[in-house]
Order: sequence, then structure tokens, then C-alpha cells
Amino acid sequence: MSTSNPYQDDRGNKDRSIANPGGQGTAEARRKSGPVTGAPDTPFLIGENMTGGYGKGPDILHECTIAVDRGEIAVIVGPNGAGKSTAMKAVFGMLDVRSGRVLLDGEDITTLTPQDRVIKGMGFVPQTHNIFTSMTVEENLEMGAFIRTDDFRDTMAQVYDLFPILKEKRRQPAGELSGGQRQQVAVGRALMTRPKVLMLDEPTAGVSPIVMDELFDRIIEVARTGIPILMVEQNARQALEIADKGYVLVQGRNAFTDTGKALMADPEVRRSFLGG
Ligand SMILES: Nc1ncnc2c1ncn2[C@@H]1O[C@H](COP(=O)(O)OP(=O)(O)OP(=O)(O)O)[C@@H](O)[C@H]1O
Ligand SMILES: [Mg+2]
Repeated sequence: MSTSNPYQDDRGNKDRSIANPGGQGTAEARRKSGPVTGAPDTPFLIGENMTGGYGKGPDILHECTIAVDRGEIAVIVGPNGAGKSTAMKAVFGMLDVRSGRVLLDGEDITTLTPQDRVIKGMGFVPQTHNIFTSMTVEENLEMGAFIRTDDFRDTMAQVYDLFPILKEKRRQPAGELSGGQRQQVAVGRALMTRPKVLMLDEPTAGVSPIVMDELFDRIIEVARTGIPILMVEQNARQALEIADKGYVLVQGRNAFTDTGKALMADPEVRRSFLGG
């Protein structure tokens, strides 16, 4: 490994005790307590009180907060058009927020470009157009490593360990793969930068329940390696089951924020968002 790799040291994701001395506790509670940059209770990644929309259009997000802490999986659920993808794009810098801010490891990154956020350690898998269909699986992974100047073969081997089918199909155009396999390519591509945090927008969209379970298992595996995961999921029930923290968004606002478990148990959340 060369020393030019910005990700090899100080990934620091496993040390929850420093990052989050209070244990659980909702982002909402943190927000109200008034976060200070670098404060011990500031989540590792937070888009805080974000208000904004597309171009000169109306606001889509209204004081919306989403966050993920070290060692955690945070899940964003809500109806179609609620602004889940918009909130993810805002955190990744694809949307100008009119107010609010984005903090990564205590640093205010609100004005950084998406590319600079990648360099800071953010990995993002968008909901659509998340692979290069005409390129092979392996070329997709190589593209993912675009910011790296060091030898990334180890990372590629790790991605192939995580998703063995991709190794088998590495010479095939990614567009020829099944939906679930394409999503593996997309996640693998994002992992090639060795991100400090991974954002996934509907990683299980359009796949069968069996493939969904399989993908969730892989996502949990990634989280266990010390990469916090912030993801949007259509399969709300299954996603909240694996979530440390859950956010229910409605019309660009935070409707409910709690642990995944508490949201699953909340009668109102169940009735309105989980089909009873
Ligand atoms: N590029 C865009 N330009 C203008 N408006 C947009 C754009 N993308 C989304 N919107 C609008 O923003 C609102 C929220 O959309 P968004 O895609 O964030 O919702 P979502 O919760 O991700 O929905 P879904 O569950 O369907 O993925 C919708 O009213 C949508 O029409
Ligand atoms: Mg969406």
C-alpha cells in the first residue's frame, strides 16, 4: 500500500465508544440538543435540518434530518415521492440546500462537490443509473476506484469475496446481469474507494424476496467491517428489522425517528407505513 491512499489509516469506524458515548438516542434528540462540530454526540454523518429543492423549484425537503453513526445501519423509509432520494442527494452534494448543513466526522462539508465528498470518504449508490451497463463487471469496479492512485487489487479481491458471482461474471458486460447482480456491481463499485461511510438508495429495488434477503445479508456484512450504512429502502419492514436507526420521511419532513425496533413496534408507524 502506498501512503498516497487517503483511506488506509484512521478509518476509525469501529470505535463506537468514543463516537457515541450515550449509546442509542435518536438523531432528533441530538438535533434538539444543538450539535457542535466535533462534539462527541454528533453522528458520523448527518444531513441536518436540510431545506431545499431542485434548481429554482420549490422546496422538496423541509428541515429534514438524516444521519448514521459509527457501527450502525440507518434506514430511511417513506411513501413514494416523500423525498428519500432527494435527502440522500442533498447529503451527497447533488442538491443545493438552502438551509441546513452536512457534517462528516464533525467536519462541515455542506459546500463540497460530490467528488470532494467521495475523496473525504463517502460512497454513494444512487437509485437509478448506478452502473455502466456496456462495461464489464470488472471495468465497473475499476471505475469505482477512480480516485485511487494506489494498488486497488486487494479491494477488488474483497469485493469478489463479498459477491462471488461478480468474480465469475467479471468479463461480462454489467448490463447482461440480473437485477440483484447489477445491484451487487453498484455496491461493489462504491466499495472500491474504501469509503468511511456508504449510502445506498434502494439497493434491493426490483429484486425477488430471496435476492433481497441475500443483499441484506451482504449489507450487514459490509456494516460489520466497520462501514456505517445509510440506506433508503422500499421494503420497510425488512429494512427496519436490520436498522439500528430508522427515519420515516413524509413530504420532505421527518415524520418518525427512532430505533428500527421501536419504529416496528409503533402502532401508528405500523398502520401508516408497514401495512398494519
Ligand atoms: N430531478 C428532479 N427535479 C425536480 N423534481 C424532482 C427531481 N427528482 C425528484 N423530484 C421531485 O421531488 C419529490 C421527491 O422525490 P424523491 O425522488 O426524492 O422521492 P422518493 O422518496 O425517493 O420516492 P421513491 O420512493 O419513488 O424513490 C417528488 O415530488 C419528485 O417529483
Ligand atoms: Mg427514491
